[in-house]
Amino acid sequence: MRHEICKLADVPETGTLVAPFFGREVHVYRSGGRIRAAANVCLHFGGPLECRDGKLVCPWHGAAFDMDKGDRVEGPAPKNARLMFLSTRVENDAVTYVWGE
Ligand code: FES
Repeated sequence: MRHEICKLADVPETGTLVAPFFGREVHVYRSGGRIRAAANVCLHFGGPLECRDGKLVCPWHGAAFDMDKGDRVEGPAPKNARLMFLSTRVENDAVTYVWGE
């Protein structure tokens, strides 16, 4: 399965692009020379995430996640909680979700 999330050129140099994804949202961003796509879902109670100071932060109760590794860095989400990264490839100048290949 393949699904285009966004054009590579639309991914900002800093911060994130919030793109629709099958009725939900993903944060798409550049991290360490690669493109990452993380579900816009907090691992505590499912709140939305905001990009702040290089972290994805949930405004509901303050959980924060490392944008590169996905680890929880503070807040009430479980200690071993990690961002849900989508499997992606850059193909034809687009960030593409790839599953089952
Ligand atoms: S739902 Fe995100 S910190 Fe509670």
